[in-house]
Amino acid sequence: MSPPPTVSGPTGPVRVALVGTGNIARFHASALASLPEQAEIVAAVDVDTEVLTAFRSRFAIPAGYTDLSAMLEDQRPELVHVCTPPGLHLPQVQTCLGAGASVLVEKPPALSLAEAEKMAAAEGGEGGPWLATVFQHRFGSGARRVRALADAGVLGRPLVAACHTTWFRPQEYFDVPWRGRWETEGGGPTMGHGIHQMDLLLSLLGEWTEVSATARRQARDVETEDVSLARVDFAGGAVASVVNSLVSPQEESRIRIDYERATVELVHLYGYGDSDWRITPAPGFEEEITTAWESGERGTDSGHHAQITQVLTALRQGTAPPVTSAESLRTMRLVAGVYASSFGGRPVTPADLGPESPFHARMDGGGVRW
Ligand SMILES: NC(=O)c1ccc[n+]([C@@H]2O[C@H](COP(=O)([O-])OP(=O)(O)OC[C@H]3O[C@@H](n4cnc5c(N)ncnc54)[C@H](O)[C@@H]3O)[C@@H](O)[C@H]2O)c1
Repeated sequence: MSPPPTVSGPTGPVRVALVGTGNIARFHASALASLPEQAEIVAAVDVDTEVLTAFRSRFAIPAGYTDLSAMLEDQRPELVHVCTPPGLHLPQVQTCLGAGASVLVEKPPALSLAEAEKMAAAEGGEGGPWLATVFQHRFGSGARRVRALADAGVLGRPLVAACHTTWFRPQEYFDVPWRGRWETEGGGPTMGHGIHQMDLLLSLLGEWTEVSATARRQARDVETEDVSLARVDFAGGAVASVVNSLVSPQEESRIRIDYERATVELVHLYGYGDSDWRITPAPGFEEEITTAWESGERGTDSGHHAQITQVLTALRQGTAPPVTSAESLRTMRLVAGVYASSFGGRPVTPADLGPESPFHARMDGGGVRW
């Protein structure tokens, strides 16, 4: 392969390619297509030629490939969106970074902490290609407003929080061969579904220090858990209850944080707008909190569009990727901590999840758990 292109600061639209043209790739392509001044989709890659052809025709993508390396060699994109099943992310991310292309990888970025660390190690350093992970719920104006108010000290200390992803997936959902298996999905709702809300919680509350958890298979015929419950402690003093479920007929995604001076609540399902957030001031703080809340940032729904806009801006300006590998690893470490605590039967800290831990190499710790 010829030498990689330089990646910092493209001036025209960023040359983007997508790998994996299934379900979620449509959200990526729609967002990119709505940003013609910032991005140009130059190619798509999929091993399923029928799916690839339909996708290319829907989004008017000029070139199609069944082989990632051939696409990279021919098209030399500046950015590749990796939208394949999680078990393929590591080799595909390494291949793209090795060819000089920055990467936006879908969640979960990898099957394990070991894989996520290998991906981070493949980044190019200063001015080189970087890796961003899709955690789109950080990027809505509601989350940004809460972060700004918390950072400014308006809300006081966070004390207690709830982070619940209670969704419903029938047994047929797991007919897709890669779902419901440790080898290919890396875990159940903790890894594949609740990871979004857990990432949002961490982006609001910061470093976690200890987790104590239980994972269960309550109702689905799968290898992984279908429910997990955890207590998570934070360096800033807050304690949170985290619930992840795929067996909950009344579905919702919920975050609630009781700060000293206000309760902040978010209730949505797969994405939120400003109206999905609510704030309740503590007695005595009504005016201060209401004024600060009403003057905060507004107008951006969470979702792929919000994050992809920032990814393109970061690439053009040569700044850090929105959701760095370090941030993505912190969230993955909490996922691994939930499994390590559930299957090890004791509280787990981030320091317990180094290379010596069986939960570093695999989210199930390398054994059959049920
Ligand atoms: N961010 C979100 O909200 C969100 C939502 C759903 C899924 N996802 C994530 O997106 C990823 C893909 O999920 P999906 O639901 O789109 O899956 P999918 O099965 O619908 O699509 C995956 C595509 O990858 C293709 N593929 C398989 N092997 C390939 C290879 N070697 N090279 C190129 N293409 C290959 C398949 O043919 C398929 O078209 C997963 O990591 C999933 O967790 C994220």
